Amino acid sequence: MQETIRKKFNELFQSEGSVYASPGRINLIGEHTDYNGGFVFPGAIDKGMIAEIKLNGTDKVRAYSVDLEDYAEFGLNEEDAPEASWARYIFGVCREIIKRGGKTGGFDTVFAGDVPLGAGMSSSAALESTYAYALNDLFSLGIDKFELAKIGQSTEHNYCEVKCGIMDQFASVFGKAGSLMRLDCRSLEYEYYPFKPVGYKLVLLDSVVKHELASSAYNKRRESCENAAAAIRKNHPEVEFLRDATMEMLNEVKDDISEEDYMRAEYVIEEIQRVLDVCDALQKGDYETVGQKMYETHHGMSKLYEVSCEELDFLNDIAKKCGVTGSRVMGGGFGGCTINLVKEDKYDAFVAEAFSAYKEKFGREPKLYEVVISDGARKLC
Ligand code: GLA
Repeated sequence: MQETIRKKFNELFQSEGSVYASPGRINLIGEHTDYNGGFVFPGAIDKGMIAEIKLNGTDKVRAYSVDLEDYAEFGLNEEDAPEASWARYIFGVCREIIKRGGKTGGFDTVFAGDVPLGAGMSSSAALESTYAYALNDLFSLGIDKFELAKIGQSTEHNYCEVKCGIMDQFASVFGKAGSLMRLDCRSLEYEYYPFKPVGYKLVLLDSVVKHELASSAYNKRRESCENAAAAIRKNHPEVEFLRDATMEMLNEVKDDISEEDYMRAEYVIEEIQRVLDVCDALQKGDYETVGQKMYETHHGMSKLYEVSCEELDFLNDIAKKCGVTGSRVMGGGFGGCTINLVKEDKYDAFVAEAFSAYKEKFGREPKLYEVVISDGARKLC
């Protein structure tokens, strides 16, 4: 990939720049908890984005996407926003840096990635983190790592219409090989958890389903959570996020909120607790409990939060039938992958069964990715 990028960069700009990379992420547990001030448990993966970048001394960015074979040129003022959605990520990062007082300028860049798009592995966060990290370095801006993650998150909010939480950008910037991270999304305290489940494999099965309206459905979920938190706050002013609420508090306002908002909030309150339970279980090496919690998450995401789909429920059922320790839909949902914690001796049979049953039912095969937990944003050369 790096070689292709170099070649293209040289062809377009007749020079050589510096090369930066940032990863996508998995999340063991803690889904839709980040924007509720709760806990998440992600790790960076060995798939991501790579970009070659060279400052060009102008006030224009000239950018090329290898994967989309598309070129864009844009300025750095608010009214210069490019049309192409891939270019808006880069533009957004520049704008968010400028808004924070960072002095940037134009640059030439070529990038490519190997995070599957729409698979729930945060290709967009990988792209944002790559440029946030690179521009911070190239312009010597001295922005700290959390602010780099927030620059990516604000890019999503302000230029890509997704009101996401901080998990993906955090994982992409802070990732560490071999470790998952528990992040408290309210205090932003985090801890690395070395993750080597001896005798188990962590594998993703990609349903290859991608729903068009995923971002508006995502934003709607967030609104439901905010509605529920606001209703609870009337009785309990200390409740800022659903993180601060209990099921008792939620039940007090059951008649004041819609059934939908109630279900969403119920899922979130339970999910936040599940992350803590999983941390305890991991410390004891109790992977059976970890797996059990993953199934519970899937159930909640499917029945209460309603972000699963027929294909993902099907993959989850197969996992259960094959005796897989834990399985659930990963990421925002509405398509994408299941994440599966599988005992090594069950792995081959599970994968074979998942492929053949899925193909029989939906007429196409899922894709399989074995997870390697890797480092976060960095300069390659
Ligand atoms: C997407 C968002 C994250 C998070 C997850 C769900 O990946 O970008 O902030 O909310 O969905 O856990």
